[in-house]
Amino acid sequence: MSARPNRTIAFVGFMAAGKSSAARAAAAALGTEPVDADAQIEADAGRTVAEIFEAEGEAGFREREERVVLGLLERGGVVALGGGAVESTRVREALAGHLAVWCDVDRETAWERVSRNDRRPLGRDRGEFDRRFEARLPLYEQVARAVLPSSAREAAALAAPWLDALRTRPALRLAWARTRSGQYPAVVGEGAPSLLPAVADPRLPGRWFAIADAAALAAQRGSLPPAESVLEVTGGEGSKTLAEAERLLRALAVAGARRDDGVIAFGGGVVGDLAGFCAATYQRGIGVVQVPTTVVAQVDSAYGGKTGVDLPEAKNYVGAYHQPLAVLADPGTLVSLPREEAAAGFVEVVKTALIAGGELWDRVRALPSAQPSDLDRDELAEIVFACARTKIGVVAEDERDSGRRAVLNLGHTVGHAVETTGGYARYRHGEAVGLGLLAALRLSGAADLREEVRELLSRHGLPTALASDLPVDAILAAVARDKKATADGVGFVLLERPGEPMIGRRVGEGELRAAVEELRA
Ligand SMILES: NC(=O)c1ccc[n+]([C@@H]2O[C@H](COP(=O)([O-])OP(=O)(O)OC[C@H]3O[C@@H](n4cnc5c(N)ncnc54)[C@H](O)[C@@H]3O)[C@@H](O)[C@H]2O)c1
Repeated sequence: MSARPNRTIAFVGFMAAGKSSAARAAAAALGTEPVDADAQIEADAGRTVAEIFEAEGEAGFREREERVVLGLLERGGVVALGGGAVESTRVREALAGHLAVWCDVDRETAWERVSRNDRRPLGRDRGEFDRRFEARLPLYEQVARAVLPSSAREAAALAAPWLDALRTRPALRLAWARTRSGQYPAVVGEGAPSLLPAVADPRLPGRWFAIADAAALAAQRGSLPPAESVLEVTGGEGSKTLAEAERLLRALAVAGARRDDGVIAFGGGVVGDLAGFCAATYQRGIGVVQVPTTVVAQVDSAYGGKTGVDLPEAKNYVGAYHQPLAVLADPGTLVSLPREEAAAGFVEVVKTALIAGGELWDRVRALPSAQPSDLDRDELAEIVFACARTKIGVVAEDERDSGRRAVLNLGHTVGHAVETTGGYARYRHGEAVGLGLLAALRLSGAADLREEVRELLSRHGLPTALASDLPVDAILAAVARDKKATADGVGFVLLERPGEPMIGRRVGEGELRAAVEELRA
């Protein structure tokens, strides 16, 4: 795609997704006027959309719509398209040269809104509504480079500077994360970190202090956005300590960081958690932008606002919720990861795909390799983006881990116990979670799926059997101490089918023992 000056920001999405109000809000933030395609069609025809449907049928309307939309896209600016505009192949092809922004509404919300308003010709019949919804969903997925939640007036205004920057950067995709305590863009693609100095977002601080993983810095320095100073951290769990946080906080003070400055967290999950914690606590909280450089961080830990450090007594025992101002993930930075780190990170991809189900699971189960350097760049970016959207969607529903967010612990209950029993040295986190996933699938009674995941892990060089010297009793005792245990026992995340995780499930002692013993096989 060639860079063209008049790339249009085109809002797409199903009926009643809030496209027009999002387009108005984004246009206002960019100091321009939006154009509504349906209003333009009505003005050209001198009739309402309903009257055109009546007189010319849907085919007549679609013909008019295609003509008008192609013209509007050429004019540039901000436009809102009708829900069915993407059914036209020519419109979809044209959108590839612009920035399609999808207002992603769930089916029930859309129906509730549509059925209240009988002026919409296609909103009178639930069966027809469902059929259209199913048919259009993949088309929105196909054309959209940016995804906003529905009713996104505020999000669209805040996202506007980022959307503006994405117009001329076709390699980048954006998903808008919205939680109760903050909303922010997650941008994935080659060169994503370079947006930081380029984007005209008034919420961003003017000065940045980077806290950077030393190995990531050595291999990927070009992806670190400009910063006043760079504080280096050694990767690995050993750095997630209060002592290290104190060292960094004091270094920030010595470097002269102020309340209106921001921190760039450049590295894997360790640096993301540690730098995020420093940002959450420095002068009672300053902004942080996450620039993740490991698979774990790009598909999971950078999103969602959980920050913290470990105590000698237990992992992640000190921390704060602190949502980032943005997450900027360049999958190209993953190619320098040590092979074992990349493979262990792949387990989080498998976990996320199992939670999401559908297309993501189909893609992940078919991947030829768990090594980013072996994968097609577009394929890798699409998988990272899909994982980011899954995590963002889960966190949006439950920022503080009191309900739905628990699905992200799939495989982690037994996984953490294996990790702890092995003294954190025996298995990498991801490797232990892989074993935990196998146990969780056994507990779910999903024998075929367990076998498929076992085969997948094995194909990518990950352990599928527990080391013979790790006692089952010690692992069971560690499960019982799991920090997520409540007064009435440990709640498991189970999954019978991809895409359908169930939280807070009770599991009998005998079943659990059998699932862990099976890992010996
Ligand atoms: N906050 C959350 O929601 C959340 C979620 C999942 C995991 N986590 C945390 O994430 C941590 C694990 O993260 P991780 O697996 O990324 O480990 P990590 O941050 O230690 O990185 C793994 C290794 O890769 C190196 N590295 C990083 N980027 C590199 C690059 N581009 N090229 C070469 N080497 C590179 C690091 O130096 C390190 O040695 C754990 O502490 C876990 O608790 C947090």
